[in-house]
Amino acid sequence: MNAQPEKTPLLALNSPPTPEEQEQERSRRRSQRRKRVIGHIVAILAIYFVITRVLYDLSLFQQPHRRHHPHWNDGQWASFNQLDTSEYPIPPDLTVAECADWNEGRVTSLDGHVNVQHVFRLPISSSLLFLTARGPLSVGNVNIVQSDSEDESAIVTVVTHYDGDSDDFDSLRLVKLCRVVADEDENGVGIFSARPHHRRHDYHIRFNVTVTLPKGSEHSPLVVSNLSTKMDGVFSHYVEDLADSVFFNSINLAGALRPIQVRSLKAGTASIGTANSPIEGNFTVTKSLKLKTANAHIDASVKMLNKRSGDHKTNLVMETVNSPIEASVSLLSVGPEDIELTSNGAFSIKARNARGSVKLAFPTAPVNSTVIVDAKTALSPINVNMHKTFEGSFAIRSTPLDKKDVTKQEAADPEGKGRKRSLVFDSVNGGSVDGRVFWGDEQGKGRGSIKLETAMSPIVLVV
Ligand SMILES: *[C@@H]1O[C@H](CO)[C@@H](O)[C@H](O)[C@H]1NC(C)=O
Ligand SMILES: *[C@@H]1O[C@H](CO)[C@@H](O)[C@H](O)[C@H]1NC(C)=O
Ligand SMILES: *[C@@H]1O[C@H](CO)[C@@H](O)[C@H](O)[C@H]1NC(C)=O
Ligand SMILES: *[C@@H]1O[C@H](CO)[C@@H](O)[C@H](O)[C@H]1NC(C)=O
Repeated sequence: MNAQPEKTPLLALNSPPTPEEQEQERSRRRSQRRKRVIGHIVAILAIYFVITRVLYDLSLFQQPHRRHHPHWNDGQWASFNQLDTSEYPIPPDLTVAECADWNEGRVTSLDGHVNVQHVFRLPISSSLLFLTARGPLSVGNVNIVQSDSEDESAIVTVVTHYDGDSDDFDSLRLVKLCRVVADEDENGVGIFSARPHHRRHDYHIRFNVTVTLPKGSEHSPLVVSNLSTKMDGVFSHYVEDLADSVFFNSINLAGALRPIQVRSLKAGTASIGTANSPIEGNFTVTKSLKLKTANAHIDASVKMLNKRSGDHKTNLVMETVNSPIEASVSLLSVGPEDIELTSNGAFSIKARNARGSVKLAFPTAPVNSTVIVDAKTALSPINVNMHKTFEGSFAIRSTPLDKKDVTKQEAADPEGKGRKRSLVFDSVNGGSVDGRVFWGDEQGKGRGSIKLETAMSPIVLVV
């Protein structure tokens, strides 16, 4: 209550302001207002600069190459002309024989979509025919097909697609499309791309690569020594119906993030791999087949041909996680010239999964064949249907309360000797079921083996 009376006398002491003083006071206030406004503008500008600086730094962070290549500045498109091949991810073990000239390709364009086509010829007799794609613009698909004319070469057609004008190859300066040589007699085509230096330029570049194999000779299929792809980035594979007309001593297809689909192929050894995408197809192999992906299913129909003369097993390995594996596996024993025999042969079938089911069926298998099945997953069921010729032991493992069903199929003696099929359990307890299955006396009980293992899920085995 004391403040009020003290203030009042202070005010009362002031004499009323003269017009001069009033004018001074107004001008002082104006000047203060101006200062405030200028202060606000300065503050706003300061904030603006801080924000743009942060955004700029963020954009550098997202495009780390700028730090390492200070000469790659905005607007310096011309600098790409001076890039030597060291700017492209060309593996040191490859020698570049020739690279495509973008101005020389066959160009077709429609509505801002441009296709530039280049053709490479690789000797079909090469000990290795290969395709490779590396770098940030590795996107596309690989097709493996066969023509109906004879030729000394495999023809590799690369159609490079981009969005833009048909006479504007700026975006393609980021790409080297080359015929490359690995070792002597190892011929391939490589797609090597450098990182786009500006996010704004998104040309949707992608590559459609077609390998056209020549036809075989009059009476025998074409034999290819080794066809291998290693496509990094985002690449799918499609193989035409080739099983009857081409034999690959070795074929290796490696893509990523896109499916691999095989109408049919026949090989000595085949290795097919991708990730986060399915593998589907019809495969015939004499030595081994490996199918490997992750987070996507495997759906295969496999013919395994085992040469009776050799001691070696024919092998199948399938691997994924989080998705089902389903395979129909026909086991065949063959003699010289792949003549089908009715008995013997040795086969190994292995499936690895986790949080995905495994389902195997064996529509056919020779009498007296040795079959080793090894399937493992977790948190998903296993379901295996053996062929009636199977003889050998089995061992089943899952958590105690889960179903572990082993049943004997009703079937007549495959040898026609009127023998009886026996299913014998050696031990059955909470987590495991072990036993044997055989025809007639116990002769065949140790021939093959089945090992199935999961957790928290049922197993069904029909022998
Ligand atoms: C790739 O090229 C082949 C052969 O020219 C063609 O049949 C196929 O449709 C093309 N695929 C894509 C995705 O463009
Ligand atoms: C085929 O070539 C690939 C790639 O070079 C190689 O990994 C593979 O071992 C070769 N296959 C055979 C059977 O030589
Ligand atoms: C496997 O072969 C069968 C029979 O020819 C065909 O219907 C199926 O489409 C083939 N699978 C694939 C993935 O092409
Ligand atoms: C299978 O093997 C048994 C002995 O191991 C033999 O007696 C039988 O003849 C064989 N069958 C054929 C079809 O080879």
